[in-house]
Amino acid sequence: MATKKISNKVKATGPKASGIKRAGKVAPAKGKLGVMVIGFGAVATTMIAGVEAVRRGLAKPIGSLTQMGTIRIGKRTDNTSPLIKEFVPLADLNDVVFTGWDIFKDNVYEAAAHAAVLDKETLAKLKPYLQTIKPMPAVFDQYYVKRLNGTHVKKGKNKRDLADQVIADIKAFKKTVDRVVMIWCGSTEIFLEPTAVHQSIKAFEKGLEANDIGIAPSQIYAYAALSEGVPFANGAPNLTVDTPALIELSKKNAAPICGKDFKTGQTFMKTVLAPAFKARMIGVSGWFSTNILGNRDGEVLDDPQSFKTKEESKLGSLEYIFQPELYPDLYKDIYHKIRINYYPPRGDDKEAWDNIDIFGWLGYPMQIKVNFLCRDSILAAPIALDLVLFLDLAKRTPELRSRGIQEWLSFYLKSPQTAAGLYPEHDLFIQSMKLKNTLRHIMGADLITHLGLEYYD
Ligand SMILES: NC(=O)c1ccc[n+]([C@@H]2O[C@H](COP(=O)([O-])OP(=O)(O)OC[C@H]3O[C@@H](n4cnc5c(N)ncnc54)[C@H](O)[C@@H]3O)[C@@H](O)[C@H]2O)c1
Repeated sequence: MATKKISNKVKATGPKASGIKRAGKVAPAKGKLGVMVIGFGAVATTMIAGVEAVRRGLAKPIGSLTQMGTIRIGKRTDNTSPLIKEFVPLADLNDVVFTGWDIFKDNVYEAAAHAAVLDKETLAKLKPYLQTIKPMPAVFDQYYVKRLNGTHVKKGKNKRDLADQVIADIKAFKKTVDRVVMIWCGSTEIFLEPTAVHQSIKAFEKGLEANDIGIAPSQIYAYAALSEGVPFANGAPNLTVDTPALIELSKKNAAPICGKDFKTGQTFMKTVLAPAFKARMIGVSGWFSTNILGNRDGEVLDDPQSFKTKEESKLGSLEYIFQPELYPDLYKDIYHKIRINYYPPRGDDKEAWDNIDIFGWLGYPMQIKVNFLCRDSILAAPIALDLVLFLDLAKRTPELRSRGIQEWLSFYLKSPQTAAGLYPEHDLFIQSMKLKNTLRHIMGADLITHLGLEYYD
């Protein structure tokens, strides 16, 4: 079906977000968007190389909603489905500029070659550009990532000093671009729970001075970003901004944040299948998920403390989707087990198996097996790009920028972040609807409820 191209001026006649007034218009995406990436590993280099390949017309941005997705505006009979990037003012890929940090000195070409996600021919074409991006020295402490040890790291008298050095990096980069967003594509840190130091900005700043052990490197970067009013995304399951102190800082400085841990392979499938079972009132007694993975991420996750962080992030989705307290007969006794095994021969080509024990009418058991042979970073790269572009949009949107957590970006994340007291929404299709309705709302278009009775008047 042909779709009409429409302008950003939308005539609004249908349902609106009840009780919520738009705070003002979204500012245009003028000039350069600077993207500061923490960790030039498999995901980050695949994203950066991919953006350059798309800019040069060598490939299509498959998997990216911001680049390929459309959004329906108005009634189904209106046939109006513009591209999302034409409906909301997103930064153009030609205006995106990358920089970042890593604990190794390799430039992005060398790091991408090491990650071995993209083939040699593709990388060779992109080499002149990729080798110009060189990492700045990182904030790193092996206590938080046991399996890594790098030499390209900042030295400072305490964590405050390190945060100030990152702030100086941000300020210098800001002079070369018009807007900045930061994204953590670094390794998974050990499992940390919020402590007293995370309860307020004041306590956090004292903790930086006192080198509090509860403050991980990812939080030092995040603190620096949010202090500078820079939106921050987290691709790993680390605690990072999921603390009262950094949420407070995000709101105070109008620097949007979202949840954590890119939702790419197995959890992506879970948040598609589980809502389907629940919608049909199919019971589930067990869900066993196992993976083999051979990249550096797999090596880091081989450490039990980093694995614990990942496991917690992966476990949450089913519990929330199935709502066993509402459906005890169907989901009360579900046994959910997750395994990740480091297996070097596979590199970035992860293989995931799920065995799902379900039961139907009168309790009769059945089984479903899912075998996903995926490419981890091929799935993650467009998510990283979309998060960056949407966080920049949020920063330019008066309605969104001072709300701190951008729950509408849960769509991309294994661990959505929510306001205190709200349970996270994991169902991919509800997340997708929330995302698109947020875009409609900020542009003053009608929300889509899917009621559709008007077609039968
Ligand atoms: N690939 C996926 O599908 C996927 C999905 C969800 C989450 N993730 C998460 O995204 C993150 C990146 O994944 P990856 O496959 O690119 O891993 P990777 O190991 O290839 O890359 C991580 C990079 O971060 C660097 N690094 C570590 N600590 C750092 C620090 N403190 N400062 C700066 N750089 C630092 C490492 O040197 C490395 O280059 C991991 O935490 C992973 O768990 C990946």
